[in-house]
Amino acid sequence: METKTLALDFTYALQAGQAVQQVMQGAPACPDCRQLADELRQAWHTLQGRQGAGNDFLGWLDTPVQTAAAELQAMRKRAAELRAKSQAFVCIGIGGSYLGAKAIIEALKPALSLSMPGGPEILYAGHQLSEDYMHELLTYLDGKDYSICIISKSGTTTEPAIAFRLLRAHLEKKYGKEEARTRIVAITDARKGAMRQLADREGYTTYVVPDNVGGRFSVLTPVGLFPLAVAGIDIEALVRGAAAEAGDVAAAGDDFKRNLSLQYAYYRQWCYRHGLGVELLVNYDPRLIYMAEWWKQLYGESEGKEGKGLFPASVSFTTDLHSMGQYIQQGPRMLCETVLSLAQGHKTVEIPTDAENGDGMNFVAGRRLSYVNAKAEEATCMAHSAEGGVPVARVILPVLDEEVLGRLIYFFETACALSGYSMHVNPFDQPGVEAYKKQMFKLLGK
Ligand code: PA5
Repeated sequence: METKTLALDFTYALQAGQAVQQVMQGAPACPDCRQLADELRQAWHTLQGRQGAGNDFLGWLDTPVQTAAAELQAMRKRAAELRAKSQAFVCIGIGGSYLGAKAIIEALKPALSLSMPGGPEILYAGHQLSEDYMHELLTYLDGKDYSICIISKSGTTTEPAIAFRLLRAHLEKKYGKEEARTRIVAITDARKGAMRQLADREGYTTYVVPDNVGGRFSVLTPVGLFPLAVAGIDIEALVRGAAAEAGDVAAAGDDFKRNLSLQYAYYRQWCYRHGLGVELLVNYDPRLIYMAEWWKQLYGESEGKEGKGLFPASVSFTTDLHSMGQYIQQGPRMLCETVLSLAQGHKTVEIPTDAENGDGMNFVAGRRLSYVNAKAEEATCMAHSAEGGVPVARVILPVLDEEVLGRLIYFFETACALSGYSMHVNPFDQPGVEAYKKQMFKLLGK
């Protein structure tokens, strides 16, 4: 079977890239570089030994390897029942409870469609509080056969709880309580929370968010897997990819030469410790926009605490080269970039020759669009790094499919834990998220 592994490229990463190369060769050149290497190696052993802060939230390390085939099959069976009677499927959740599934669906579905071939349209709710959005969604669903899935680990989060209340009422009015019950799936805590109680009382199908997996690390649990199965994503291949990455990273151990997560953590920590404040996750394909949204939550919530952390931001090229490109090229030198670089697409579009050449584009006639995009990527890497002084690392995805996305998720999660531990923060809590809730509940009179 063909092996589809990720690769990292530091050609354009300037001094940060040289530092990574040196540590890979076992010879970090400066005392700070040696210290960072030691701290990351220590972080690796802390993570593997499950000794660090938040070690009761390390279930994600094992989930891909431990998920039983029967469990996946059971989810696919229930998903097939919903697919058979639904033109649309609404995922209700916020943050880690919807971003992973959305990132994968957006990466794999046809660009101009709301659905995977043969599957229901996938819609989202409970990820904001817009009244107009909700009104339009409910109106849209008046004319569709649909099912819903409420995903909330705590079972008490305001946004999805309100959305579920509205959608459940809509569903019950449309189909009656009995049929509505068969069209609702709840993914929540095994025991705690209002959603667990409600689901048990109403007899909804439920799947459990494991106690030892936090929201932003939960995409490879039922949180992501069930909605993905409804959408028509190959969840076996996704989990297989993640398990393969888990195997590779475990086999690599603390060897920087072989451990991609350690290399990436080193790169971003080197940038951070050399005064850069923002990491841009860059794509050259709009299918990866939501992968960046998922990544932003992963790194933002895991590292942004105690006054520390690179600010995770994202841009889509070449689109944003015509909006943010100026700032990146010549604004304050506080940025580093990580490019999600897609080695190979699925489709072919060739640029035609035009006898009149009125647009002056014959110099690319006969070329594929992906060739021009690849040259734009190479040129931008050169301009931003060599001329702009912005380090640019690249994560190379051999192709965009379930297996590679499974690998990418596991790679980013592992690097995130290592990077967080090397900064001596707990990568698995998010105490700051509560502050807005406290104020909001006060204003709402809760
Ligand atoms: O990463 C996290 O823990 C958060 O982003 C949660 O996923 C998000 O707040 C939703 O929480 P819940 O699933 O409890 O509704």
